[in-house]
Amino acid sequence: MTGTRVLLALLCVAVIATVAASSTSTAAQVVEHDYVGADRCKSCHAAEFAAWGASPHARAMQTLTAAEQKNPRCLACHTMVPDDVQAALVGVQCESCHGPGRHYSPAWVMRDPVLARQLNLLAKVDAAACARCHNDASPAMGAFDFAAKRELIKHWSDEPK
Ligand code: HEC
Ligand code: HEC
Ligand code: HEC
Ligand code: HEC
Repeated sequence: MTGTRVLLALLCVAVIATVAASSTSTAAQVVEHDYVGADRCKSCHAAEFAAWGASPHARAMQTLTAAEQKNPRCLACHTMVPDDVQAALVGVQCESCHGPGRHYSPAWVMRDPVLARQLNLLAKVDAAACARCHNDASPAMGAFDFAAKRELIKHWSDEPK
């Protein structure tokens, strides 16, 4: 491609991104972030998506009443991007644990584990990642048992890679 063509292509991408953002955002102001939503992941990770979809995380926003869905205090743990509650992003989604996916979700990046990690993929999700929400401020009875709770959201194989 010549320089002009590259520039034109970039411009097109920018225009499409702007139009998409303004037409889907419910907020008065368009919020800039790198979250793409679980539907994007579903196209390649159907089994993981099905397991997640059956888990309480997928329904974390619906748990809240209409008033609570506007309360920033509740949104902090019950949805992925508190500032952007468009339908495609609500609840505790893939990227709440695996990191914002705009840059790692393209096929050619995903096939390269090293590059994907450099572009925000968190492949290992440890107890500290859960503790961001599963902590004393959540209504759980008793302490969070990482090993046991991890089994309840299982969507991976135990085979070493
Ligand atoms: C275009 C297809 C595609 C899309 C879209 C995609 N992935 Fe992947 N993903 C792959 C492939 C291929 C691999 C590597 C093989 C494997 O482990 O399944 C992978 C691997 C992974 C891994 C394991 C990485 C490792 O090295 O252990 C995670 C976690 C992951 N993807 C999360 C996501 C999330 C979250 C999204 C959505 C934001 C997403 N992927 C979107 C194709 C995709
Ligand atoms: C972004 C916040 C957030 C993160 C990060 C998070 N969770 Fe949750 N989790 C929630 C919320 C909110 C609920 C309650 C959902 C509902 O029922 O509405 C929940 C519910 C659960 C439940 C079902 C209730 C229970 O305790 O049995 C399990 C299991 C669970 N989470 C496991 C995990 C594990 C394991 C991790 C880390 C790998 C994790 N969660 C990370 C917010 C989070
Ligand atoms: C620090 C993170 C955090 C905050 C802040 C938070 N929640 Fe939660 N919430 C959780 C987690 C984690 C669970 C799952 C607890 C469990 O069962 O282990 C949960 C569970 C719930 C449940 C029970 C869901 C069920 O099916 O049993 C309700 C209702 C709820 N939260 C409402 C709220 C409301 C309303 C607010 C705001 C006033 C709020 N939460 C703020 C993390 C949080
Ligand atoms: C509550 C946190 C959480 C959410 C939400 C979540 N994951 Fe995961 N994911 C994990 C954990 C924990 C592992 C196990 C890897 C590890 O030890 O960290 C994992 C592993 C994976 C793997 C590796 C699979 C393998 O066999 O090695 C893929 C791919 C993946 N997740 C994709 C997704 C996709 C796609 C979604 C949404 C549809 C999603 N995850 C939602 C926590 C989460």
